[in-house]
Amino acid sequence: MYVLGVETSCDETSVSVTIDGKEVLSNVVLSQIDIHKEYGGVVPEIASREHIKGITYVFDQAMKEAKIEYEDLDLIAVTEGPGLIGSLLIGVNAAKVISLNYHIPIIGVHHITGHIYASNIEHDFEFPLLALVVSGGHTELILMKEHFSFEKLGETQDDAVGEAYDKIARVLGLPYPGGPVVDKMARDGEEEYHFPRPMIDSDDFNFSFSGLKSHVINLNHNMKQRNEEIHIANFCRSFQEAVTDVLVAKTIKAKDQYQVKQVIVAGGVAANSGLRQKMKEQITDVPVYFPSMKYCTDNAAMISAAGYYKYKKEQKYDDFMLNGSSRLEINKEE
Ligand code: KG4
Ligand code: ZN
Repeated sequence: MYVLGVETSCDETSVSVTIDGKEVLSNVVLSQIDIHKEYGGVVPEIASREHIKGITYVFDQAMKEAKIEYEDLDLIAVTEGPGLIGSLLIGVNAAKVISLNYHIPIIGVHHITGHIYASNIEHDFEFPLLALVVSGGHTELILMKEHFSFEKLGETQDDAVGEAYDKIARVLGLPYPGGPVVDKMARDGEEEYHFPRPMIDSDDFNFSFSGLKSHVINLNHNMKQRNEEIHIANFCRSFQEAVTDVLVAKTIKAKDQYQVKQVIVAGGVAANSGLRQKMKEQITDVPVYFPSMKYCTDNAAMISAAGYYKYKKEQKYDDFMLNGSSRLEINKEE
């Protein structure tokens, strides 16, 4: 099946064509990061406007690179949520236009299922499988017993990991998005400060990052008031060590309890070098897969992949009532 994927949930306008959600013929991503950087974060109104400006070009480019015509498509998969509603609507409506015009069936996809299926593009899933989803909006441990079945084992009770990275970066005066910059600084630093590891020993699979975030922000503030010099790289390294210790410990606990055959890490924070290294060092009994960088952050190939497997499992399409939804549960689709 030729599957068109469309992703516009946040600040990336992306369209992709895959064959059966595995062979990527094109994956065009137009990023708005440089525009939002000026404001220190994504401005929803600007994001919607930029999607409108870029969407036609991105569709055209993805089709051109895939060397097929719209008539050749078998399925259109589009992110229906969660995300910024104004942004989601641009992708959903553009996908509906192509669907209606060329009589191609359409299917709405949950953004996080896309991040998870990014991994299956490069390595076949083996079940049961454990997915750690870490992005700007999500921190979740998800168990999959078969294709397109998602059991949420735990999630953050407050901030998402990526969100905490972005906020720490902001107080340290580093540019947006903070995750990659803090990660880069951390590589040159040492763990000079000892930060808490929230909920590392709790009996559940939940996370909490707001206390750690406040601790780090307060220390930074207090040191500044005392005119003490902050070693930024060491600060970043200490934060990264605390975060990755918790993520890895909880992942290992879930892996052992559910006897999974594979661990995958998904979402923007899966690009983190410290997390990659620690996971690989500490999990040696089953394979741990991270998507390559281009599939870690938001992209439409992962939506195309998830859409294909969703269709295979459910054997049904959406109708033209399909709409964007800023809040959407991952299990709504089962
Ligand atoms: O998945 P994604 O592209 O968008 C969402 O769905 O949220 O993730 C973006 C998030 C941002 O918070 C960004 O700072 C973080 O992923 N991120 C990283 C790294 N690269 C991106 N966080 C830590 N280390 C990185 N290398
Ligand atoms: Zn995402």
